[in-house]
Amino acid sequence: MVYGCNAGQEKKAVVFAVGGAPGEVMVWEEVARAFTDESGIPMRILRQPTDTAQRRQGLLVALGSAQRDPDVFLMDIAWLGLFAAGGWLAPLGDVALEPFFIETVRQADIVDGQLIALPFSLDVGIVYYRTDLLTEPVPRTWQALAAAAARAQTRIQPHTPGFYGFVWQGAQYEGLVVNFLDFAGSQGGFLVAGDRILVDSPHNVAALAMMVDFIHTQAISPPNTYTEMKEEEVRRHYQGGDALFARNWPYAYPLHAAEGSPVRGKTGVMPLPAPENGSPAATLGGWHVGVSAFSDARAEAIQFALYLTSRPVQKLLALKLGLPPGRRELYTDEDILEKYPHYELLAEILRSARSRPILPNYTLISEIMQRRLSGALARDYSPAQALAMAQQEIDRMMARTRRDPPGSRPR
Ligand code: GLC
Repeated sequence: MVYGCNAGQEKKAVVFAVGGAPGEVMVWEEVARAFTDESGIPMRILRQPTDTAQRRQGLLVALGSAQRDPDVFLMDIAWLGLFAAGGWLAPLGDVALEPFFIETVRQADIVDGQLIALPFSLDVGIVYYRTDLLTEPVPRTWQALAAAAARAQTRIQPHTPGFYGFVWQGAQYEGLVVNFLDFAGSQGGFLVAGDRILVDSPHNVAALAMMVDFIHTQAISPPNTYTEMKEEEVRRHYQGGDALFARNWPYAYPLHAAEGSPVRGKTGVMPLPAPENGSPAATLGGWHVGVSAFSDARAEAIQFALYLTSRPVQKLLALKLGLPPGRRELYTDEDILEKYPHYELLAEILRSARSRPILPNYTLISEIMQRRLSGALARDYSPAQALAMAQQEIDRMMARTRRDPPGSRPR
């Protein structure tokens, strides 16, 4: 919406809500400035935290009360079902979708035939490892990873007590669910079976038992895994030189490689391991750009969303922040491959990565999972008990929300 109509006219700023790791917001500000220079549309950045649930909460308050701002925002793929069901996303119109990861677009961004978001960035877990400390071949199985982690720890922990073999995201939040699904997927488990949300399966129990074992029995993962470890805690731990392996997202790559980083030039990237005789699995993460249905600058906000997902901007953000683009074509881009040789591997992992269920009530499922997985990691109950309890609670919640779906409200 443009306020004023002649000399001295002021355009309303498009408000863009975005968060992320340290340093990210600065880059977003640059991008917003470049957009303003090109389009004449003023922009304002609404800074959000790093944690996905906190980011979601901030947006829910605004959207749930039909506020006009923010106009445009990034959404975790994990909340898309909820936002779409709420009717909070404005259709983006006709966009050429072939250059994007089309399967992801079909699964996540098209609802009732309307394009309601675009994949700004896709995400998958990878394992960073210290090339100078790993004395054996890059491990392909969880057993081999655990053995290498234990050996390095025995060698290094006596003089560096904070050193651990393997760090990953085990705090009670969305990242725990993703880490669990990575482990579970590689054991042949996951979160869905046909139409049912199936958590309590032998494969999933085995995966959770392995996570507990890594912390408490083999002790290759630190005791604060389940009290503190989110993406940034894991990154700092590894980057500080205190781990052999770290499971994290691609955003950590340029930070590990930055000037002054103790692990610069000593970090390799490998896929998540698989079980003996199994194949690796990765859970699809990522961030999609959407425009608020309540925006009073809808056309301008859509223009910005298209700008963010345009080839040059996606390339710039990949180069600056390491965020894997939603445009498939960029994974063969020479400049990107020169800076990030691991993009070839990322493209391969992305091809078979599995999304968490895109459902209006996924966040409720996740909250149950977070609580029960965390209880198992703290050894309040066994992995089998944890997943049996989670299953019961999820079944009850699903029955309840079938009658009264989240996001559905009188309009
Ligand atoms: C990353 C992923 C996102 C996931 C989150 C969990 O930001 O892109 O999909 O939900 O991590 O912490």
